[in-house]
Amino acid sequence: MRTMIVRPAKRIRGRLVMPGDKSISHRAPMISALAEGTSRIRNYSTSADCAATLSCLKQIGVGIEQSQLELFVHGVGLHGFIRPGAPLDCGNSGTTMRLLAGILAAQNFTSVLTGDESLRARPMQRIIEPLQMMGAKISATDGHAPLTIQGTQSLQAITYELLIASAQIKSSILLAGLIASGRTKVIENDPTRDHTERMLQSFGARMESGVDEREGENSHFAAVDGPASLKAQVTSIPGDISSAAYFAAAAGLLPGSSLEIDGVGLNPTRVEFLKQLQSLGFAVEIAEESVENYESRGLLRVHGVRSVNLKKSGSRVMLNGSLIPNVIDELPLLAVVGSQIEDGIEIRDAAELRVKESDRIATTARNLRAMGAEVEEFDDGLYVNGPTRLHGATIEPHGDHRIAMAFAIAGLIAGSETEIQDSDCVAVSFPEFFDLLHSVVE
Ligand code: S3P
Repeated sequence: MRTMIVRPAKRIRGRLVMPGDKSISHRAPMISALAEGTSRIRNYSTSADCAATLSCLKQIGVGIEQSQLELFVHGVGLHGFIRPGAPLDCGNSGTTMRLLAGILAAQNFTSVLTGDESLRARPMQRIIEPLQMMGAKISATDGHAPLTIQGTQSLQAITYELLIASAQIKSSILLAGLIASGRTKVIENDPTRDHTERMLQSFGARMESGVDEREGENSHFAAVDGPASLKAQVTSIPGDISSAAYFAAAAGLLPGSSLEIDGVGLNPTRVEFLKQLQSLGFAVEIAEESVENYESRGLLRVHGVRSVNLKKSGSRVMLNGSLIPNVIDELPLLAVVGSQIEDGIEIRDAAELRVKESDRIATTARNLRAMGAEVEEFDDGLYVNGPTRLHGATIEPHGDHRIAMAFAIAGLIAGSETEIQDSDCVAVSFPEFFDLLHSVVE
């Protein structure tokens, strides 16, 4: 376990390109595997999570080759997977486990999905229940992995209203729905990231999505008609906006900074963090440049033009409600930003943070306090007061990549040296993080 020292920085300068988006990367080989023909995937995520997806797919008979530029995935169609000889190890990756469960539920064999200690502690009942409603037999211990999935090729389509705003649950059901017979419809009251819907459209699935009028204007639905017939595609994955977020925050917080990030994904369900920075007074420009595979991408430019006078409205900034799913992975970083904002930031309706790779409400609060911030913790969020001059501290990420990275950014704006313990955990989503950070920090 490596400890990384982060020193206070003057500013950030440079032009970066992020590795491929993690969420889109998980989906690309899964959906390619379900298609007929050989698909090509460019700019696949370098994350350990996405490597876990590939190794699980290989274990169920999907041929995958990797050249320097792209991945080749030989589709097996809806039913061409083979029974794995051993449990499928999803590592730390909730997306791998929950999405693959949807595909495996519809296969004529039994498989076991497992993962590391953190993943085995995360809730799986949320996907078990809808997949069982479709006819799959899944057993777990107290709603936790390992999951034993007794799949069946005769899954039935369902209409399911999400009780938890989660793109992973939605995607798991839609992937099972691709293979089931009939129209599977997922209704969500707080819309979540829609990469699965966009990619299924790009592979030729019969899809429909939009506002669910009977349920009210905030209520969305996504529906897929199964069994689907998918055709191999070339998918080009945009840079990961959740990885770009750390650099954007650093540049915004350090006066005199100037940063450009090119080719970054700008899916409307993922740009909320940047919008929040803008409304707090940071100089963030977003220029959409192209759309490929129904996903837009573009240039992000951030200047560090202000220091302590961010957001002087006389009341704390409140982040809650339907905004939360669209900024869920950036909340620890927003809490760090909150420590630099007049009156701070309050995050609510975010109890989901407690069941991420770590309990992110607790790990964020503890580490922010260690750096001198005043934090109040709630069941469903936290309040970080500001502005506070942070000081260096020893950060314990609890194996959580997003905590390690958020506090590396806190370390840049602190008054003294910060030690990030177990810093290797950043490889879960972003192995290049510290190298890229060193390349732009002055
Ligand atoms: C993801 C969805 C989110 C997010 C995770 C990736 C996805 O999880 O936190 O990092 O790729 O669908 P939930 O759907 O559980 O909120």
